[in-house]
Amino acid sequence: MRRSFVLAATVTALAGICVALPAEAGTPAEPATAATPPMGWNSWNSFGCEIDENKIKSMADALVASGMRDAGYQYVVIDDCWFDPNRTADGSLRGDPKRFPSGMKAVGDYVHGKGLKFGLYQVPTEKTCAQRNNAYPGETGSGGHEHADARTFASWGVDYLKYDWCSPAGTLDDQIRGFTTMRDALAATGRPIVYSINANSYHFPKNGQVHDWNGIAHLSRTTEDIKPVWKTGNPNEYPMGVTDIIDINNALTERAKPGYYNDPDMLEVGVYDVEGYPGLTDTEARAHFGMWALMSAPLIAGNDVRAMKPEISRILNNRDVIAVNQDSLARQADLVDSQGTAQVYRKPMADGSIVVGLLNRTETARDLTATTAQLGLDEYTARDLHTGEVTGRSGDLKAAVPAHGLQLFRLYGS
Ligand code: GLA
Repeated sequence: MRRSFVLAATVTALAGICVALPAEAGTPAEPATAATPPMGWNSWNSFGCEIDENKIKSMADALVASGMRDAGYQYVVIDDCWFDPNRTADGSLRGDPKRFPSGMKAVGDYVHGKGLKFGLYQVPTEKTCAQRNNAYPGETGSGGHEHADARTFASWGVDYLKYDWCSPAGTLDDQIRGFTTMRDALAATGRPIVYSINANSYHFPKNGQVHDWNGIAHLSRTTEDIKPVWKTGNPNEYPMGVTDIIDINNALTERAKPGYYNDPDMLEVGVYDVEGYPGLTDTEARAHFGMWALMSAPLIAGNDVRAMKPEISRILNNRDVIAVNQDSLARQADLVDSQGTAQVYRKPMADGSIVVGLLNRTETARDLTATTAQLGLDEYTARDLHTGEVTGRSGDLKAAVPAHGLQLFRLYGS
């Protein structure tokens, strides 16, 4: 164990040197785009198409007031339904004049003025998902307009693009071409823009699961859409619960690295009453958040931040758990033991510590155990990342875990 600690520390030190080299003397190096999983907020999970500029601005205010911005949530992403259903006479996109009368640049300026970053949703095909589902009029996708639209986004100060295939048409090769075209169009603007893609909607098998999108996007959706429910039992088909998604994502750990993340969809922490689902319990929400942290997933909150109850704020603002997610190694936790529904996860951290998650997927409280062989440690200090309690321990790590609960520990070898 000591050897891997020294190795990790050396790698980290070397990485620091590599990052510092290209900067000119006296200029701090620009962090690479999405060097750690992106964090932010997105309008879709709570509001769907019911959005307007005042709602978005008030959400930016609430990200600041709630402490979430300072905890790391940066991107305010406006999902589907922000645009005028008709392009302008010269073929440009613009915001819906009724709901975004000040225009998208003004919204972006407001968001930037709060010390946050700005994101938008678009598709590489002809219709956005809401347009395809007849929930919103028009056909304003970026297919054939990629370079012009990328320039428009850059001129509005867009820092994050969520780009969703959302069409039954197109082979995997067509998708690779379409997503690459926008990657190149974004790069040509010269503006660093986090590029989030979804190759799944209307396709089976899911090409976000089948294909490794490293090098094309910073994050790629691995599953169908999440809903605020623990489990639906669906095999990567709409709608998905928290544990259904974990099962798909667990097979893809090798892909995650700094600058590329498996995207198991946005957070449902504090999201209630969606499509007949009442929402997660607080215990389930804590487990969901902790698992997304372990999986080095993007942490994109989807709740109404203006009106969250204290326990939801505590979950989303838990800096010990956020630190697990934002670790510079960006390793996705391995499932090291799965005794049916009692699962042990292990994530190595850049400082040589390890984070262990004990996930109880059953309907009753259980004592779960990670063995010393699974930990790779016999003597260690364990910090409980939900209570902050620190204990010196030796041997197996045991904990009582509530039904649908996750206990998270950060272990430092001694
Ligand atoms: C798809 C995506 C969702 C959301 C909607 C918008 O379903 O997976 O996250 O962006 O489209 O219509």
